[in-house]
Amino acid sequence: MSAYIINGGRRLNGSLNVQGSKNSVLPILAATVLVKGKCVIHNCPLLSDTECTVKILKSLGCGVRREGNTITVDATVVSCSYIPEDLMREMRSSIVFLGAIVGRMGEATMCAPGGCEIGLRPIDLHLYAVKRLGVNVIESHGKIICKVAEKLKGDKITLSFPSVGATENALLLSVTAKGTTTIVNAAREPEITDLCNFLNSCGARISGAGESIITVEGVDRLHGTEHTVICDRIVASTYLVAGAVTRGDIELKNTEPVYLNSVLPLLEEAGCSVNVRCKSIRVKCPMGLRRIDKIITQPYPGFPTDSQALFTTLTSVARGTSVIVENIFESRFKHVPELVRMGARIRTEGRVAVVEGVNSLYGADVLSPDLRGGAALVVAGLCAEGVTTVGNVGFIDRGYENLSQNLCVLNGDIRLSISGEGKN
Ligand code: EPU
Repeated sequence: MSAYIINGGRRLNGSLNVQGSKNSVLPILAATVLVKGKCVIHNCPLLSDTECTVKILKSLGCGVRREGNTITVDATVVSCSYIPEDLMREMRSSIVFLGAIVGRMGEATMCAPGGCEIGLRPIDLHLYAVKRLGVNVIESHGKIICKVAEKLKGDKITLSFPSVGATENALLLSVTAKGTTTIVNAAREPEITDLCNFLNSCGARISGAGESIITVEGVDRLHGTEHTVICDRIVASTYLVAGAVTRGDIELKNTEPVYLNSVLPLLEEAGCSVNVRCKSIRVKCPMGLRRIDKIITQPYPGFPTDSQALFTTLTSVARGTSVIVENIFESRFKHVPELVRMGARIRTEGRVAVVEGVNSLYGADVLSPDLRGGAALVVAGLCAEGVTTVGNVGFIDRGYENLSQNLCVLNGDIRLSISGEGKN
């Protein structure tokens, strides 16, 4: 089994470019299915989830070529409306193919998606949205079978929660539906805006992206385009927290500070100095960290659930007691027992964690419970005394491009061991 082996205690210093956003590239690649032509997507991170998305595109009959971080998708011909079960189960975001395939083919068949086990993760809002636009949905024997009843027709879709995935599916289905669709209580994440910008550059007519009400005027067809994926705000927050807990000095380039408006003030509250310039963020933390009063996860523009585990690590080594409330997913404290193995003092009850800071964590053998929980354990290993081994790295590879190499560039001591063989 592969593992990261980390020698903790080294200050991280230096600068880094932030990779493209995983949660942007996946729906954008799915959206290319709607385009009868070629789309060239730049800044695609090299991740196992991106690979899985490429496999789905190929299984649908699309031509896909990858050159470094650029992926070209030719969906002139789409020959299949079915996603094989093994690919559906590999990741949660496979569900956004639902809107794209039905929008293109008028029908789609798939099973429920997989992904990190961070909660129940139902898809009722996705199905509600597609039904509103005229799609019949049958759920039978573990399969979801969708078929356009007569034709796709725009309507009002009111989401009871601003679900990222359901907003994406509503967008993908409405761009070529007849008439106007209004998505009320839409998700406002930057990844939604990126998807809308991509679709508009293909000829879609979407307004209100980034706001709670999005309006889509359906068009007959979309054309090919070239698009650059936005930077990954969660990866950015990972490196910033790694810098903070090691009392380092990190500069991130090629980033969008505004995406981290709910995160950077908490780093300041913890005692870091944060300098923002145009596309760069510099975080220094020469002195020890202080408690953060309350960290409450919320839909964007609130504090992101995907950064919660990282801040659990940060507050574990901060002076004083911090409180973390996880409002988005029911089971997103699975990293806590692993942090406790490293000497953290954390109690959880339901959606609340109370973190009593300790002077130092110590190295231990731990297992990634999920993608962000795994990243939080790597960050804990970087500041712990001694050696930490983080297993289940497959979870981490889903979202982080060249994690160990990047941390080594920043003076971290981390290597990937594959089946016991030391490899970098
Ligand atoms: N929900 C429902 N019904 C639905 C859809 C969602 O009840 O039909 C609930 C979920 O169970 C959850 C909440 O709504 O409790 C939020 O889910 P949402 O649909 O917003 O999340 P998602 O689309 O499944 C994306 C990201 C997640 C990120 C969340 C929240 C992708 C591929 N995934 O998931 O990213 O945590 O939005 O921001 O975009 C990650 O990158 O590690 C990750 C888990």
